Amino acid sequence: MQDIYLYEDCDVLKNLLDIRDNKLLDEAEADYVTYRLKEIAIKPLHGTYNYAHLLQMHRYIFQDIFEWAGQQRKLNIYKEEPILGGLSVTYSDVLDIRKDAEHALREMREKRWNSMNIHEKALQFSNSLAKLWRVHPFREGNTRTTITFCCQFADEIGLNPNRELFEKNAQYVRTALVAYNAVFDDIGDISKPEYLIRIVEDALTSDRNE
Ligand SMILES: Nc1ncnc2c1ncn2[C@@H]1O[C@H](COP(=O)(O)OP(=O)(O)OP(=O)(O)O)[C@@H](O)[C@H]1O
Ligand SMILES: [Mg+2]
Repeated sequence: MQDIYLYEDCDVLKNLLDIRDNKLLDEAEADYVTYRLKEIAIKPLHGTYNYAHLLQMHRYIFQDIFEWAGQQRKLNIYKEEPILGGLSVTYSDVLDIRKDAEHALREMREKRWNSMNIHEKALQFSNSLAKLWRVHPFREGNTRTTITFCCQFADEIGLNPNRELFEKNAQYVRTALVAYNAVFDDIGDISKPEYLIRIVEDALTSDRNE
């Protein structure tokens, strides 16, 4: 099927900068996004952590790059993962995105964070992060949006995760999110949540002044 998000004559996502080369687009995107993420870290994008708030977060982070920033994707996605032998995580079907995201968000908001010890907080934060990430509401930029959004929520409930740790270990974090969500209808549950839990626990306990 034709991917409406790509230019017709090349395999590059249509973008506001009209860049037609994936490497150049990645570089430009990284520069703009880094700037926007720094802005948000200093001046949070306030809201109630509902679905509309998540869309706003994507819109803010990717406003310079994609015309559709802040809009839910219109196509199903499949991304081959080397650690899954080329399989893809089962991302939410287009028709379920809103419902699945709202469910994950409601659960995150309603957890009894105040009555948990630090290890339970790490388990539950990993769980919320991974569930929301599996929805992948956007055509691109889901990992950065989900992490930023959940970290901002975590700040509001006093968890204060070290965001730099996620940023500096972005590849590890993405792989850990894939491993957490390796659950399939046919081959069953081969998930490994421990990698994500490990870095989340580090992020919740690390001393920023080290
Ligand atoms: N928390 C983060 N902070 C800053 N940069 C990040 C973060 N997470 C990932 N990146 C960087 O963003 C770029 C794109 O990564 P990736 O494609 O895995 O995530 P995404 O585009 O946000 O989500 P997805 O492709 O799953 O929709 C990579 O260069 C990666 O290093
Ligand atoms: Mg990406």
